[in-house]
Amino acid sequence: MTQLPDLPALGLETYLIRTFGCQMNKHDSERIAGMLESLGMLPTSEVEQADVMVFMTCCVREAADERLYGQVASYKNVPSPHGRRIIAVGGCIGQRDGMGLTERLGNIDVVFGTHNIAHLPSLLAQAARDEVPAVEVLDEADGFSTELPGIREHAWHAWVPITYGCDNFCTYCIVPYVRGREKSRPFEDIRSELITLAEQGVHEVTLLGQNVNSYGRDLYGKPRFADVLRMAGETPIERIRFATSHPKDLLDETIQAMAEVPSVMPQLHLPVQSGSDVILKRMNRNYTAARYLDRVRRLREYVPDIALSTDIIVGFPGETEQDFQDTLALCREARYHQAFTFIYSKRGGTPAARMPQNATHEEIQSRLDRLVELVQESAWQLNQQEKGSVVEILVEGASRKDPTMLAGRTPKNQVVHAKVPEGCAPESLAGTFRKVAVDTARTWYLSGSLVEG
Ligand code: SAH
Ligand code: SF4
Ligand code: F3S
Repeated sequence: MTQLPDLPALGLETYLIRTFGCQMNKHDSERIAGMLESLGMLPTSEVEQADVMVFMTCCVREAADERLYGQVASYKNVPSPHGRRIIAVGGCIGQRDGMGLTERLGNIDVVFGTHNIAHLPSLLAQAARDEVPAVEVLDEADGFSTELPGIREHAWHAWVPITYGCDNFCTYCIVPYVRGREKSRPFEDIRSELITLAEQGVHEVTLLGQNVNSYGRDLYGKPRFADVLRMAGETPIERIRFATSHPKDLLDETIQAMAEVPSVMPQLHLPVQSGSDVILKRMNRNYTAARYLDRVRRLREYVPDIALSTDIIVGFPGETEQDFQDTLALCREARYHQAFTFIYSKRGGTPAARMPQNATHEEIQSRLDRLVELVQESAWQLNQQEKGSVVEILVEGASRKDPTMLAGRTPKNQVVHAKVPEGCAPESLAGTFRKVAVDTARTWYLSGSLVEG
């Protein structure tokens, strides 16, 4: 790592991080918080109080892009506590646009990318001293961000990257261009991090990667994700989750490990993107709808009660009504607990950006509406099965909907709201396991009351 600057001495005493996009950015934001605090800076949640604002950005869809421009512009005239505020933009837009960002947005002081978050402190110092933008974007990673000190959002949960980058080049997707080639962390590094996290009181980890199923291919010549799950199962961490799984690489040995390791939760996010073989081919996904459904059957054979979630894109260039009907049919068969549904968004530089769009905006919107309705129906129906049961939840804190209730998640990752006993603050139970008797099941959550003891 480069030499560490004395940021408070440069008038940079407080920081605020805004994070967009996926869990990888959340993880990196926790590392940035850790680094800045180890250098003597303090967190603040008030823009007016922040000497440094860091934006961890996402460009996976156009809407995410635009959000950044609006936000950065809106902070231009907010006064700062020590006269000058440093605005730093990192993450995927930083990586993609580099210097171009400072030209597009006048008030940016630092641009960094996805491969060099460890350099942020020195870039901040440089910008504070020189009063000209400090821009650094690297083509390849300078170490794994996981090796930096971190401050976790929750004491009981940790994000643990096991791979960085992506080699799949789905034709719509910008991620491989902004996160670089797939790189696995050494197996022993993951093990020692998990053991340390368990000692620190972490109860749940989410193993991260754009395609965790191919973990190890670059290091060991073959995927070793099933080994990672078994190893994680030997640590005292009670709940193991992971994201994301590419269906083409979901091996039987992984499904078997999911079934055999008790701490691997009965839940899987398995993005399908489309149910049409023609579209899947054009997306370069490397599986057919039949192969995907075969994986779903195998999962249910080994983990009968598994909760599946997915990502789906509608309006991919060339998608016809029949292709979309194939997607609906697949969803009916797969029975999702949850689906993240997106309208295709053209990303410059990707192969799909050159494919002609045939459907109108209205047609695409109608597809999205019909898809959302179908998914809501299956989510609602699946949740009804929990009514009358007792579920174990890991408490996250107060419910956002009703702060007098607590919120937590079941092994299947369903959100649960529960009444707490009189005089008990929901936050005081965060990070503990509780049992809830479920009396109500809605589309996106369950609710009930705590079971004593
Ligand atoms: N690596 C993960 C997903 C990363 S991006 C995976 O392969 O599953 C998260 C989701 O955003 C994708 O699954 C996809 O559904 C969606 N997405 C990616 N690029 C998109 C685009 N150009 N337009 C619309 N949705 C997109
Ligand atoms: Fe994007 Fe495909 Fe890689 Fe996922 S697997 S990050 S969708 S290119
Ligand atoms: Fe977005 Fe980058 Fe993640 S583009 S989805 S933040 S990898």
